[in-house]
Amino acid sequence: MILITGGAGYIGAHVALEWLGQGEEVLILDNLCNSQRAAIERISTLAGKRPEFIQGDVRNRRLLDTLLHDYPIDAVVHCAGLKAVGESVREPLRYFDTNVGGSLTLCQAMAQAGVFHLVFSSSATVYGDCATLPINEACATGQPTNPYGMSKLMSENIMKSVASSDPRWSIGLLRYFNPIGAHPSGLLGEAPTSTPNNLLPYLLEVASGQRPHLSVFGNDYPTLDGTGVRDYLHVVDLALGHVCALDTLRGRRGVSIWNLGTGRGYSVLEVVSAFEQVTGIKIPLSIEARRPGDIARCWANPQKAIEELGWQASRSLQSMLADAWRWQSNQLGQVDVRQAN
Ligand code: NAD
Ligand code: UFG
Repeated sequence: MILITGGAGYIGAHVALEWLGQGEEVLILDNLCNSQRAAIERISTLAGKRPEFIQGDVRNRRLLDTLLHDYPIDAVVHCAGLKAVGESVREPLRYFDTNVGGSLTLCQAMAQAGVFHLVFSSSATVYGDCATLPINEACATGQPTNPYGMSKLMSENIMKSVASSDPRWSIGLLRYFNPIGAHPSGLLGEAPTSTPNNLLPYLLEVASGQRPHLSVFGNDYPTLDGTGVRDYLHVVDLALGHVCALDTLRGRRGVSIWNLGTGRGYSVLEVVSAFEQVTGIKIPLSIEARRPGDIARCWANPQKAIEELGWQASRSLQSMLADAWRWQSNQLGQVDVRQAN
């Protein structure tokens, strides 16, 4: 059985669904601070099988000890955490407590229970502003400019130290680039509870008329059209990367690091234009100043994951955008129904 912390969230839910589809038993631990119980229902509907679900906190050592004792868990995927960069600047202690404290408590409980396979949701943010592109895993980690990024780097370092201290550990640090999109069914996707910070969730709210325009943060970067370039990857591809990573970890020891990205970057204006083509909806834009802390360009060299995991992102930008829009439209449909009642 695989324990997925944060498995009711955007990425964890897609990971859970992939494993359930492959006949694995899944236990989700989530405190629902940024997700809803409905996600568990959606996973069950799509998988035709219900994951075990415990509402609780990954920092609760006693709870972790009980779960690791009571369920036949042999591997953990640690997605639980807080992820809003701006919020992390305002509330650094909450971010360190949840993200670093959660990783620490989880590693302690796993060691005690003798469970040594761990997959961690890390981020390309640990590279900082990498001078060479594409970014491969040998690039030095940078100096993150915000507590969120620091918390990811600190968690990675804790896991590296833990793995060096005991040869039974097998830990995969997955450095995600920019996950977007939704399940193609339109039933599972990202559901921001407050004003979105990231490009795609914001764009979707503009497209559905909830916000007047999309702010483009800077058009004077040294890129093809002056706007920031990122490596967007489909959340279903990302979820499949976790399955391949754990398969690989079962046959090795120590710490392994893999970039999960497509290897191709798109600018903000390219994403907007592709969205307009896919949906036929015009997105009003407002060109604004650069967002503090943003880098100009960031995309992965995914070669290591291709060679070692046998994993490669295959879904196009168009399918990411079409799937995201299907999810967003379904969400709004549900809101309308509730309002009509
Ligand atoms: P999300 O907020 O949708 O999911 C995280 C889940 O963790 C939520 O369901 C939340 O309720 C849960 N959670 C938070 N604190 C918890 C705690 N103390 N105990 C138990 N559950 C807790 O975010 P996501 O986009 O699915 O991200 C998953 C992981 O991937 C996070 O660690 C995030 O930092 C990392 N990541 C995300 C991105 C991205 O762009 N989405 C990029 C790089 C890395
Ligand atoms: N952008 C806009 N307008 C917006 C939002 C974003 O122009 O309203 C631009 C940004 O300036 C950037 C690009 O769109 O050029 C992507 O921005 P996102 O906020 O979607 O993503 P980031 O690359 O800044 O960061 C994301 C996650 C981080 C993670 C990183 C990994 O938020 O947590 O990807 O690469 F670490």
